Amino acid sequence: MGGRKKLIIANWKMHFTVKQAVNYASKLAALPVPEGVSVIIAPPVIALNEIAIKLDKTPLKLAAQNAYFQDEGAYTGEVSMPMLTGLAQYVLIGHSERRHVFGEGDDVVMQKVAAAVRSGLRPILCVGDTLLERTNRHTTRVLHHQVVAGLSQLTAEEVAKVIIAYEPVWAISNGHDYLHHAVATPEEAVAAAATIRHNVAVLYGADTAQKVRVLYGASVSAELVNGFLKEPSIDGLLVGGASLHKHAFWPIVEAAAQATPTKISVNQAKDKKKAKRA
Ligand code: PGA
Repeated sequence: MGGRKKLIIANWKMHFTVKQAVNYASKLAALPVPEGVSVIIAPPVIALNEIAIKLDKTPLKLAAQNAYFQDEGAYTGEVSMPMLTGLAQYVLIGHSERRHVFGEGDDVVMQKVAAAVRSGLRPILCVGDTLLERTNRHTTRVLHHQVVAGLSQLTAEEVAKVIIAYEPVWAISNGHDYLHHAVATPEEAVAAAATIRHNVAVLYGADTAQKVRVLYGASVSAELVNGFLKEPSIDGLLVGGASLHKHAFWPIVEAAAQATPTKISVNQAKDKKKAKRA
């Protein structure tokens, strides 16, 4: 966990026209992505095609914000996972707004995760507790249900490639108030990451649990990212409101580079060991 690349995901939600999204993506693509960080952008789906062309040969990767679990058919208004292949490498699944505004339950989330994997997309499975669930001390139980159900159709090998984002529903901003919104503490995020990995370990083994990337998301801003990023069990951040402006988003990417421990060479590590023994 510690020492691996930090992942910073920009979730633009339902913001920007295609033209605005493409312009903004081009501006981000012109910035140097620091070493030790991967940046993934999740624009509105109608802008994916044009942005994918613009970002070709840049280090920025793309995610869809959602997709349906059927591969094709009479599902008016829906976009399938196979339709996204070639445009995005990742897909957000089970975001709290999908769960709570559009009523997607764990059964739908489970099928979407399986469909993404079937199409060669990496799922970013979002899980999180509501305020009521947290107040009633049900967080562990909620995370257990969401993680177990979400991954239930996958093999251990497939689970190892899933990214799980802990997004406490009570801390997610409306896109504008993220600087003043309630936010989880790094300790709460670390505890949630431990619960998530524990559930993965029980079902798919400790090795798989170590491989799964766990992110924190909800009211993330450059001002408070360091507390999360320095935690080895937090592999990165899912950013909503702050991802809509370059001046608010890019400092988060840069902070992630600062938080990534520089790799020490094998020889340096051996020297360190020798020095300790002496
Ligand atoms: P927020 O959104 O950073 O605006 O709270 C995060 C998310 O919902 O992914």
